[in-house]
Amino acid sequence: MSQSSKPTLTTEAGAPVADNQNSTSAGIGGPLLLQDQHLLEKLARFNRERIPERVVHARGSGAYGYFEVTDDVSAFTRAHFLGEVGRRTETFARFSTVADSLGGPDAARDPRGFALKFYTGEGNYDLVGNNTPVFFIKDPLKFPDFIHSQKRDPFTGKQEPDNVWDFWAHSPEATHQVTWLMGDRGIPASYRHMNGYGSHTYQWTNAEGEAFFVKYHFKTNQGIRCLSSEQAAELCGTDPNSHQTDLLQSIERGVFPSWTLYVQIMPAAEAADYRFNPFDLTKVWPHKDYPLKRVGRLVLDRNPDNVFAEVEQSAFSPNNFVPGIGPSPDKMLQGRLFAYADAHRYRLGVNHTQLAVNAPKGVPSGRADNYGRDGLMATNAYGRHAKNYEPNSYDGPVETGEPLSAPLAVSGYWGTHAAPQHTKDDDFFQAGELYRLMSEEEKGRLVANIAGGLSQVSREDVIEKNIAHFQAADPEYGRRVEEAVRALQEG
Ligand code: HEM
Repeated sequence: MSQSSKPTLTTEAGAPVADNQNSTSAGIGGPLLLQDQHLLEKLARFNRERIPERVVHARGSGAYGYFEVTDDVSAFTRAHFLGEVGRRTETFARFSTVADSLGGPDAARDPRGFALKFYTGEGNYDLVGNNTPVFFIKDPLKFPDFIHSQKRDPFTGKQEPDNVWDFWAHSPEATHQVTWLMGDRGIPASYRHMNGYGSHTYQWTNAEGEAFFVKYHFKTNQGIRCLSSEQAAELCGTDPNSHQTDLLQSIERGVFPSWTLYVQIMPAAEAADYRFNPFDLTKVWPHKDYPLKRVGRLVLDRNPDNVFAEVEQSAFSPNNFVPGIGPSPDKMLQGRLFAYADAHRYRLGVNHTQLAVNAPKGVPSGRADNYGRDGLMATNAYGRHAKNYEPNSYDGPVETGEPLSAPLAVSGYWGTHAAPQHTKDDDFFQAGELYRLMSEEEKGRLVANIAGGLSQVSREDVIEKNIAHFQAADPEYGRRVEEAVRALQEG
């Protein structure tokens, strides 16, 4: 302790710092000395403060809370954390925008990430979803191109309508999600006022080994609230951190946001003959086929103490499953099972799972128990006689022999398969259904938002291809978009 009641300022090595205002110099006006450990350390550390931002979803906000089971779903999954009504599991959530870099405005027209980490007693379960039930593409091979087209252009350094709409012109499967994004729900008023979706189909397996396919829906208990394009444009300028402020302040005030989780459940045997591919991420399952079943509620009640340590360094990976939950053959999901942990090794290093926010704190030992060792920044110290190989003759951790989820039969020839698998696998019918569900006012705003972007495109063939997609979804939809684009071009 210093002479005051405040703690002593120290160097990184813990030694007391005598002067934090004046560098050590040779004489009163002289040059600075290399021996000034505190100065060198301070400047060098500052140079290393930034790490690579997430390649997508760079801008986000996080909070802790819990998930509580309210309804019995044990007939469908043996996941322990879902196994009993009333069971609570600590959870960390990170919400995000997608396209812009760190520092981008929160109120952008963009999907929102809805990533959850459940610290279960059987390991971390990560559900890395969005606020939209569908996505723009259905093959992970297209993801880097898609993202390049939506982020800043390498020459102009800004998002370009030419690129955004050119990619969509070549991706008819995006029509459903584009309709969603350009509609009223395209700009949530805050992270609290939006739903979350697992989006993909996942697999649940019960204690008897029976498999089910499921889709997750987190419905906001705050009610859905969205911004118009005009409101959002203003907010992006006046309060670019609007979503962060809203979430932080709401939790600080003790107004804890919550969501009710529902699932749609499809018995595994029904998947093969369903009228469209149930693993196609560009489609929803109609609720009349698979109604929502309530599971529990997510409550966020604690802000992180440090945004960098806990939010920036958080790492969610769709391949973090627990017994009773597994992947489906959704090709996009399969691609994501690789992409995230790989991104984390690059962005945070191989030992990112040892950081407090990412460690499996729900398991009895509070950490991973395996034979992975060393690497940059390893902090897990295993017991002094712990072996670093397996199998061994000692008492180190051993496998369970129980697969996490049910096996899935596959067949066919390897190759790149462009042909649809199911009879109703066209790219437009659900976009048309979504359009026809909208009120006249909603349709008007949707068409105006699309035309606002599309009319800025410099190539006529790109405009026409996009109009053709809306036309294929619904002739009226296509006609109205075309009229609105032409009016803006002429005006
Ligand atoms: C973040 C890849 C599709 C939701 C990321 C990151 C990568 C990535 C590399 C950054 C991870 C990090 O640095 O921590 C991909 C690929 C996709 C894909 C390759 C398709 C093949 C999707 C889909 C969804 C989604 C379909 C939602 C349903 C998210 C979310 C984050 C994210 C929420 C931010 C997670 C966080 O808050 O840390 N994605 N993504 N992504 N992605 Fe994807």
